[in-house]
Amino acid sequence: MSKVSMTQSPVLTIDGPSGAGKGSIAQLVAKALGWSLLDSGALYRLTALSAKRQNVSLDDEQALAKVAEGLVVEFLPSEFGEPVKVLLNGDDVTNEIRTEVAGNDASKIAPLAGVRKALLQRQRDFSTETGLVADGRDMGTVVFPQAEYKVFMTASAEERAERRYNQLKTKGEDVSIAALLKEIEERDARDMGRKNAPLKAASDAEVIDTTRFSIEEVLAQVMSLIH
Ligand code: C5P
Repeated sequence: MSKVSMTQSPVLTIDGPSGAGKGSIAQLVAKALGWSLLDSGALYRLTALSAKRQNVSLDDEQALAKVAEGLVVEFLPSEFGEPVKVLLNGDDVTNEIRTEVAGNDASKIAPLAGVRKALLQRQRDFSTETGLVADGRDMGTVVFPQAEYKVFMTASAEERAERRYNQLKTKGEDVSIAALLKEIEERDARDMGRKNAPLKAASDAEVIDTTRFSIEEVLAQVMSLIH
């Protein structure tokens, strides 16, 4: 029996495509409930970044699996609105793993079974007695299939591109919405079309389309599932 099916600790899984608002909602719910937080996408981003730093090719599955197994990472708590501080081998990579390149690199290595296997237990180990909010693509389907609460959060690709555009603009980055939309559509296709743990809603997940909702409205919907 896997460790996850033996534990009674509450888990809320939030899956969905890039830019649907999972990260913000996961952070807010975890804070409101005093639960731990797993940003599983960060582990894929860190694996790709660590591989590049070690000159490991992003299609060498065996070597990438070793990189994933050997990751030395720390997640330091942050205020809402601020990204969680992430250290890789003690080096602050908070900003580096949040770039478009890092996201695309992550989605290129994510289809590899060896990489996913290497990260599986590490993700389950985030579970604590108090509770866990787990944000990703396969949290409700593969990593925590027994989770008590499951949400699948989505939004139109246009809306997600616009949100990302506004985020990047605030940071002073010069990007075009058209380019972001293309990237988002390509990433969706890769994440949904892969054989291993494709992006999809678990059959028992509550699907929330956030296109026309504010963060506060989505938060209220998610919290109402738990209370
Ligand atoms: O969520 P985030 O954008 O940080 O994820 C980056 C990429 O990592 C995703 O596009 C996806 O390919 C991969 N990923 C995954 N499974 C997860 C989380 C992320 O395959 N649970």
